[in-house]
Amino acid sequence: MHAIERFLAACRRQPVDRPPVWIMRQAGRYMESYRELKTRVSFMELCRTPQYATEATMMAVDQLDIDAAIVFSDILIPLEPIGLKVDFDDRGPRVEPPVRCLADVERLNVNGATDHLGYVYEAIGQIQRELDGRLPLLGFAGSPFTLAVYAIEGGTTRNKHAIRRMIYDAPEALHLLLSKLSDLVGAYLVAQVKAGVNAVQIFDTWGGLLTEAEWRVFSLPYTQRAMRTVRAATDAPIIHYALEASHLVPAMVELPCDVLSVDWREPLSSVRKRTGYLHAYQGNVESGIMTASHGAIDRAVRECLEDFGRVPGHILNLGHGITPDANVAAAKHFVAVAKEAGAKLWATGSAL
Ligand code: CP3
Repeated sequence: MHAIERFLAACRRQPVDRPPVWIMRQAGRYMESYRELKTRVSFMELCRTPQYATEATMMAVDQLDIDAAIVFSDILIPLEPIGLKVDFDDRGPRVEPPVRCLADVERLNVNGATDHLGYVYEAIGQIQRELDGRLPLLGFAGSPFTLAVYAIEGGTTRNKHAIRRMIYDAPEALHLLLSKLSDLVGAYLVAQVKAGVNAVQIFDTWGGLLTEAEWRVFSLPYTQRAMRTVRAATDAPIIHYALEASHLVPAMVELPCDVLSVDWREPLSSVRKRTGYLHAYQGNVESGIMTASHGAIDRAVRECLEDFGRVPGHILNLGHGITPDANVAAAKHFVAVAKEAGAKLWATGSAL
């Protein structure tokens, strides 16, 4: 099966010869070539320069023999054209000034913002030329709620009390922010599809902070709105990722997307059962496996494939992004085993 056809079939719960495999954050610091590139340019420059973004994207393609490429960028990039300054240092991302009250939200201007992200669309065009039809290319965005967490906290914080305070004390300001971000995310993903990506993923990395009732108020409706915008304008499959969100699984059924990507805490067969198999599923080998032995990787990948079974609608991935302490040989082994064991599963009914 051709890689693009295989990926799209898996998203649409159609039969495949084997489940496709890719790795979240597959181009990054665990790679020597990426670290080398980073000695010459900053992370923001990397994201802003199509030539570098293409180079970073292609590192994972060339080194891992992966089944899908993902545009090298960051979920925080589209916050810049709405009026926030984004930067990354050793401690992670910084968003300034943090959004704390209604007046701060009112100052943000979403209209036409995605027109200022031409360098992302250019990178997409350039990556597609390099891929030359070999692999599907994924675009992505943060969920409105997860972007709001970064905008409000001003970066990565431990207790996330600034977003909590907004939920408790200024929900109208938060709703206005989420509404603006949902327009931003919808328009941004449509623009990425128009520029050439074959599928898109929305990262709700911090949705799991919320109770189900809160998630239904502060995340679900805004992600739904962004997804409906994508659905209305394109037929690209939509993947939704959530971290530490087993308690949200019953509500995730209401997402108008093709694929639910979840972390490692619950077997995908169980997620599938609880969600009534209305979606395809992506995941969900625990990320620390990329620091372990080849034997352990072998077992973990086979277990994940065997658990899902010879059922249409599985994209093999980690439960969260690959980390800087991962091993490139481990990542290569992960991909190779996923391909071999996945083909065995589909040919014989067992991945073991
Ligand atoms: O998957 C890919 O290869 C595409 C690139 C990609 C990056 N970030 C590159 C990156 C993607 C899809 C993301 C998504 C992203 N960014 C998420 C959602 C996924 C998740 O991990 O939950 C989030 C929450 C962010 C925000 C972000 N970006 C943080 C918190 C950090 C700092 C922590 C860290 O891992 O360094 C980043 C920086 C970042 N984004 C790096 C990369 C390669 C490292 C920057 C560096 O080179 O120093």
